[in-house]
Amino acid sequence: MKRSLIACALLGLATAASADPFAAGNPKIGKQMMDKNCTSCHVSSFGGDGSAIYTREDRIVENASGLLARIRTCETNLGLKWFEDEELHVAAYLNQTYYHFK
Ligand code: HEC
Repeated sequence: MKRSLIACALLGLATAASADPFAAGNPKIGKQMMDKNCTSCHVSSFGGDGSAIYTREDRIVENASGLLARIRTCETNLGLKWFEDEELHVAAYLNQTYYHFK
């Protein structure tokens, strides 16, 4: 009984460590893209460094696909025409820094 619990816990850890939904993105590039195009508006609405928008209790984004969808909506509204791999950079940055979706 005990042994199987430990095995389960280990399996969970291994899965958590390897499952990055945006592994193809580069968070450093994503941060630069956001600093350039996105963050100043979040700062003016939410104060500080703007990150409260991602960490507030009633935030909109609830999972990895929702994050990508939201990035796409914002980016399209702004007329930026990012490519899919560019969206992944931003998703990787936001997920690694704030959301931590698996
Ligand atoms: C003109 C202002 C403005 C710009 C520019 C802007 N945003 Fe936003 N963004 C907002 C506002 C306001 C919200 C919150 C909307 C709400 O609460 O209904 C938001 C919400 C978000 C969220 C969801 C946060 C949550 O609740 O989990 C993400 C992700 C996001 N923006 C990403 C981006 C990205 C990526 C860009 C640049 C391509 C961008 N935003 C540009 C104003 C902006």
